[in-house]
Amino acid sequence: MRLFGNLNIKDNEVFLGPYSMSYLRENYKTPLYIVDEDFFRETIRKFRDNFVSDNFETKVLYASKALLNIYTANVVSDEGIAIDAVSGGEIYTISKSNMDVGNIYFHGNNKLVEELELAVNLGVGKIVIDNEAEIDRLEDVVRRLKCDDGNKFKQRVLLRLNPGIDAHTHEYISTSKNDSKFGLSIFSNDIFDIISRINDSEYLEFLGFHAHIGSQVFREESFFDEAKTMIDFMRKTEDRSIKVRELNLGGGFGIYYTEEDEPFELGGFLRRYVKVCEDYLKENDLEIDTLTIEPGRSLISNCGHTLYTASSTKKTYGGKNFVFIDGSMNDNIRPALYGAKYEACVANRFDSSDEEVYTIAGKCCESGDIIIKDIKLPRVEDDDLILVGSTGAYNYSMASNYNRVARPEMIFVSKDGINVAVKRETYEDIIKNDVF
Ligand code: LLP
Repeated sequence: MRLFGNLNIKDNEVFLGPYSMSYLRENYKTPLYIVDEDFFRETIRKFRDNFVSDNFETKVLYASKALLNIYTANVVSDEGIAIDAVSGGEIYTISKSNMDVGNIYFHGNNKLVEELELAVNLGVGKIVIDNEAEIDRLEDVVRRLKCDDGNKFKQRVLLRLNPGIDAHTHEYISTSKNDSKFGLSIFSNDIFDIISRINDSEYLEFLGFHAHIGSQVFREESFFDEAKTMIDFMRKTEDRSIKVRELNLGGGFGIYYTEEDEPFELGGFLRRYVKVCEDYLKENDLEIDTLTIEPGRSLISNCGHTLYTASSTKKTYGGKNFVFIDGSMNDNIRPALYGAKYEACVANRFDSSDEEVYTIAGKCCESGDIIIKDIKLPRVEDDDLILVGSTGAYNYSMASNYNRVARPEMIFVSKDGINVAVKRETYEDIIKNDVF
C-alpha cells in the first residue's frame, strides 16, 4: 500500500505521525475514519499556490460533497479557500462552521425552493443555475425574500453549461455527455436566449459560466479541451454583448487509489491549466475577473484512511479466502457502487514473507459488501488491524445505516494532536428519529 502524507512505518507497524494504529484503535475504536490534517492542509496549499495568474483572480473551491462536517469546513476556511455545496444540508453544515457563507457556491440540478430560500436568506455567495425552471424559481425566491418594499437586490449567479466533453471516466461519474442531467448544453438552440434572460433579470446578477466534465479524470487534455470549448463559447456570448466575468471549470482531477491509476503531477498540471486558459483567453481577445476550479477528491482522498479490525477469516468451500472486518459497505460504498479499487495493509504487520491472497469483506447482509477483492496481505490473524488507504473522499459522505449499522467515528490527526471531528454513532442515534 502506498503511504501518503504522514503515514510511516516503525517496527513494522503503520503510524500516522507519532501515533501507531494500535494506539488509535485503543483510544478511538474501529472502524475509524482517520484524516491526516497536516497533509490535507498541505494539499490545499499546493492547489492555492499553483493555481495562480497575473492576469486574473484565481479561486480554488473545495467540493464539499467529497467530505463535509463542521471540522472539515473549519480547516478549509482556515486555509483560505472557498467551498461548494449541493444541498441545503451542506449549506447548513458550512453555515455552522467558521467559513463565511459568502464563500459558498451552490450547485445542484434540482435545487428545491426551500434550499434556494435557505441559500438566499443566509447570503450564499453564488448560485450556479442548472436549468430554465431554476431561473424562475430563483427569481421568485429573491423577489419574495429580498425585494419586498421596493428593495433592490440581485443574487449573483453562474450558469452551468455542458460543453459535451467525454472525460473518459466511469459512466456514473461522467457529467458532460450530451444526455447528462447536469447543466444546459452549449449546443442547445435557445442557449443564448436563456443567458440573455439571466443577464437581463431584475433579480439576478449574471457573472459567468460553470462546467464540470466528470470525476476521477486522468487526461490533462480533457481539462484543456473543456477550457478551450468554454472560452470559445464565451467569445460567442460576448459577441452578443453579454459580459462573462467568471469561468468556473469544475473539479474531477484523478487521484491514486491503486497502481492502475496514474494521476498527473498536481503542481505542474495546475500551472499548465492556468497557462492554457491565459493563452486561449488572450487569443480570443477576452478578459475575465476570476478563474475558478472546484476539486474535491484530489484535495482530500489521499489524506483519509479507514482503520478496521479483522474479526475473523474464513476459507469457503469454493476456495475463497475471506477477511471479515468490523466495517462494511456502510462506511465505503464505492467498491459496490462503482467497482472502485483500494489498497490495504495489515497495519500491525506491514511486511511479512508469509503472505496470502484475501478478499476483504464487510459485515452487511449483502454479497456485494466487499471492500477489496483478491489482495495479497501478510497472513491475517484475528484481531489484526486492516488499514484501507485513500478513503478520504466519498466514503464518509456516502455512508449509510443499512442494516442499522452505526457510522464510524472520524478523527483528524495533526502535529498538534488528535481531534474528533465526528463522534461514533450509537444505537440511540440509530433510533433517534423513530417514533415510538
Ligand atoms: N464540481 C461539481 C459540479 C461536481 O459535480 C463534482 C463532483 C466536483 C466539483 C468534484 O469532483 P472531484 O474533484 O471530487 O472529482 N461519488 C462519486 C463521485 C461523484 C462526484 C460528483 N461530483 C465517487 O465516489 O467517485
